[in-house]
Amino acid sequence: MPKFPDGAATPASIVDALKAVAGNPPRARASFAKGRCVRGTYAPSDQAQEITKSRSFTRPSRVLARFSMGGGDPNVADTNGLVLRGFSFRLGDDSHRSDILTESAPVHFARTLDQMLAFLKARIPGPDGNVNVAKVKAFSAANPETLRQASYIATRPLPGSFAGTAYWGVHAFPATNSKGETRFIKFRVVPAGGEITLTEEEAKAKSADFLHEDLVHRIASGGVRFNVMALLGRPGDPTMDVTIRWPDEDKRDAVRLGSIVITGVEADDACDASIFNPANLAEGIGHPPDEIFAARRAAYAISLAKRR
Ligand code: HEM
Repeated sequence: MPKFPDGAATPASIVDALKAVAGNPPRARASFAKGRCVRGTYAPSDQAQEITKSRSFTRPSRVLARFSMGGGDPNVADTNGLVLRGFSFRLGDDSHRSDILTESAPVHFARTLDQMLAFLKARIPGPDGNVNVAKVKAFSAANPETLRQASYIATRPLPGSFAGTAYWGVHAFPATNSKGETRFIKFRVVPAGGEITLTEEEAKAKSADFLHEDLVHRIASGGVRFNVMALLGRPGDPTMDVTIRWPDEDKRDAVRLGSIVITGVEADDACDASIFNPANLAEGIGHPPDEIFAARRAAYAISLAKRR
């Protein structure tokens, strides 16, 4: 565990700030509060072992997963185009388990924990329920990299289905193959049937929970399938700053590690009783080296304790 000097941001202060931004809804996750628990299967590709020896990725397994809406508001409308969509999944058997958490943007909104805390604090509503817009503007002007995630989402069309959205693992993960070769990869989870988006006009006709209804229908008709891709790192790629992408990241060589098929809706308790813990990674995929990742393990456990 890293040490946190007095006065600096900690996983606990970040969880408190995430909750406060959303108005402290009881029993909700501090982040990605609205979601749906599902199950499915993972099948590895023939190339997976060239990238990682992780038995989570090189063997078929059952999958527990959760699709979600970003932010701490469990009642956010699915038509909201300004929050992320999330996809968390657990692969592997009990002794080689990995939890991979992904979201619908390739970058995080802060480079350091201190910056993350300041970003959130600027957005906590005052006693009148309103956010201080001047404060947010001043913070943004001084910290322009914190706007990259929001700009990315704002310029994308509205997601029309959890099953038609692409998700990123954001951090650079060291992957070691069976020959002992290690390279950084980034996870990108791509809908096998292509992206599904809505125009603003189409979105107006949709209900606040349409993504959840859409998911149930698509699972019933067998149409929820993703390819789990590893984008391949090169020497010199920035691996410590989660607010920037790798050079030419969209044109990177990518290897398909395997596919996930979502086969059923799971009782929410199967996802709510514990956490998808980003630190759970079977040997063959290591922990990303940046400080944001290091804080996540503790933050998720604190959030779990608060919502129990
Ligand atoms: C940088 C990339 C990040 C990604 C891709 C990400 C993704 C996610 C996802 C998908 C969930 C929902 C988990 C679920 O379905 O149960 C989640 C929850 C959460 N995230 Fe993150 N997150 C990131 C960074 C962070 C950071 C830096 C922190 C805090 C230091 C954080 C704190 C939390 C907390 C507290 C929860 C709620 C955990 C729970 O109560 O189960 N996240 N995140």
